Amino acid sequence: MTSLKTKYLGMELKSPVIAASCSLTNSLESLIKLEKAGAGAVVLKSLFEEQIIEERIKTAATGFYSSFHTEAVEYIAQMSMNFGPEAYLKLIRDAKKELSIPVIASINCITKEYWIEFAAKIEKAGADAIELNISHLTHDIEKSGDTVADEYLAIFMAVKEKVKIPVSVKMGQNFTNISRMIKVLETHGAAGVVLFNRFYQVDIDIEKMSFVPGYVRSSHKDITETIRWVALVSGKTKLSIAGSRGVRDGSDVIKVLLAGGDAVQVASTLYKNGVEHIAKINSEIESWMKLKGFDTIASFKGLLNQKNIENPESWERQQYIKAIVGVE
Ligand SMILES: Cc1cc2nc3c(=O)[nH]c(=O)nc-3n(C[C@H](O)[C@H](O)[C@H](O)COP(=O)(O)O)c2cc1C
Repeated sequence: MTSLKTKYLGMELKSPVIAASCSLTNSLESLIKLEKAGAGAVVLKSLFEEQIIEERIKTAATGFYSSFHTEAVEYIAQMSMNFGPEAYLKLIRDAKKELSIPVIASINCITKEYWIEFAAKIEKAGADAIELNISHLTHDIEKSGDTVADEYLAIFMAVKEKVKIPVSVKMGQNFTNISRMIKVLETHGAAGVVLFNRFYQVDIDIEKMSFVPGYVRSSHKDITETIRWVALVSGKTKLSIAGSRGVRDGSDVIKVLLAGGDAVQVASTLYKNGVEHIAKINSEIESWMKLKGFDTIASFKGLLNQKNIENPESWERQQYIKAIVGVE
């Protein structure tokens, strides 16, 4: 019997395909559809600090709107989101009542106090785990890479100390040393990492000569950096790893698993193909496993990570060298 079961953040998932945090995971109706389609877990749309403050402004009429993080404000506006913390907690409670798959909450904050306060509420509402969507776009010329890494760790530690449920970190790719950041998170008690987030993109309209939002969805080409990093780090950490960015179909999930990932997170492909697409992805993984004679995911997971392949340096190659790739 072919089984798609996998372990992620200490939980058993019936499929390695997790619905990533996005607007498809911010209503109970959609979450039920995702479970029906065969998702192994769901990550709720992130709750942004701005939403917490906004709700507080509405209730307490305090006024510090000017300190809002512009990127996140625009992100929310872009997504037509106006989804406050109380509604978020209700969604967690409802989802826990209606769904049998794990419900992972996601938060994106700037101020430490908000991360902590909300993490505790999320745990109380019944979420199975918390994903920290940390997304500092560091461009301060005075700030070193180490300082940025310390800030990430401080946020993680603050949340971790407050809750007992597993805490994972969804990372961007902009670290001087991704492996080191993961190792540090592991040492301090993280349950897993998501490699990688795909942030809000920017662009310029040359006709209007103005700033415009960039393309929202990922491209299938993004998968190559995802599998490279999963392959590079999976043999060096015991953390759960979810590969995300560019995962489109069953073959991409298989690649992430062969590279050593425990699961994948998908968003763009669900926008393009509908949430039912998860059923197709699951059946593609199953067919491949049957063809190759694997009954379980554990029997092939990580076979091609850097630790296990004959030429480990292949995963590190960054330059085109004619003798090797045929192109100069
Ligand atoms: C419309 C949209 C909204 C998203 N909202 C969030 C969010 O609230 N929090 C988050 O961590 N990631 C968010 N993401 C990023 C996705 O969760 C995912 O990490 C990213 O799109 C890469 O996966 P993909 O290639 O399958 O799209 C969003 C993505 C899209 C397309």
